[in-house]
Amino acid sequence: MTDCLLVGGGIIGLSLAYELSCRGMAVTVVEQGEWGGQASSAAAGMLAPLKEFSQPGPMLELGMKSLELYPKWAEELEARTGIDVQACKSGLLTVALTEPESGELLEKYKWQKASGYAVEWMTGEEMRRVEPLLTEQAIAGIYSPEEGHINNRMLLNALVAACKKMGATLLSGSVVTGMAKEGGRIVGVETTTGPLRAGHTVIASGAWAGIMAEWLDFAVPVRPVRGQVASVSSSGIPLRTVIFGTSGYITPKLDGKIVLGATEDEAGFQRHVTLSGLAKVLDGVMPYVPALHSAAFQQAWAGLRPATADSMPLLGPVPGWQGVSIAGGHFRNGILLSPVTAKVMADYVESGREDALQPFLPSRFLGSTTNR
Ligand code: GLY
Repeated sequence: MTDCLLVGGGIIGLSLAYELSCRGMAVTVVEQGEWGGQASSAAAGMLAPLKEFSQPGPMLELGMKSLELYPKWAEELEARTGIDVQACKSGLLTVALTEPESGELLEKYKWQKASGYAVEWMTGEEMRRVEPLLTEQAIAGIYSPEEGHINNRMLLNALVAACKKMGATLLSGSVVTGMAKEGGRIVGVETTTGPLRAGHTVIASGAWAGIMAEWLDFAVPVRPVRGQVASVSSSGIPLRTVIFGTSGYITPKLDGKIVLGATEDEAGFQRHVTLSGLAKVLDGVMPYVPALHSAAFQQAWAGLRPATADSMPLLGPVPGWQGVSIAGGHFRNGILLSPVTAKVMADYVESGREDALQPFLPSRFLGSTTNR
């Protein structure tokens, strides 16, 4: 019997397991594959709420809160484990190549600036002073100096190590086959390696959360959206800043990779890279940094982002049951949102209070019959 059982060992399940362990709870995480083996390791590791959330509102607030938590979170994980998670406040440029694109970006810049966020409007020349490898075709854009990236694979390694250090039980290679019910309460799960019993169970299984919630007669609108990503070597391409164009991004990492992304494919649970997906990624990014044309290709991969019908995460209790909640549906931003999710979900698991979860409660989808 454990205090809290996390179903899913991706970035969200591991982050919450770590936070709860630090608060003194007995925690178990069950994962059918490898730790962070799905979207969490496929991610580009960007920490970019001002870019990712295109309007003011709860998502941007949640993202900014998480960005604020990141330095301490990363520092603490490094101190506990000795693993360098390569957090980097590289700054981010969102770039316009045409007048209509520039007009659209300027509108975004105006409300961001008026809301007090750290953004600057720049001409092409000013942007090239920040990032000399940016194309001469760039005419204007937004620079956000506080945004950046982290090495998500190292972060996963650090979380696994930190969870173990804090006494959490990590079970991989164990497939959850059903929920254990006692009246209206969930008391754990059944797995291929035996039953697991818990005071509270959290479904944190990414794109697979919808399937598990169906076992609880609750149609959670979570679906997989494939993201195809490629990397090239940064050798000879000393890029410093994350660059976003209209249909892609370029992320120079600290480990010698430049990560290029990403498609958004409705392809069910298919996880392979397609040639047209790869072509789309490359066509989307090369116009922004001409040096990429001669870059040494390293690899391409894909991950399944957990998307919800309203593009907001699901945080909180599963309606109709005691003892079970969901932490999922983070779509493009699981890495960014992991510290804040760990904090607000740990608060909920400890106290049962839902107030801080309000806009993200799964109950907003009660009665919904579609996953779109
Ligand atoms: N966060 C970027 C992506 O999902 O592609």
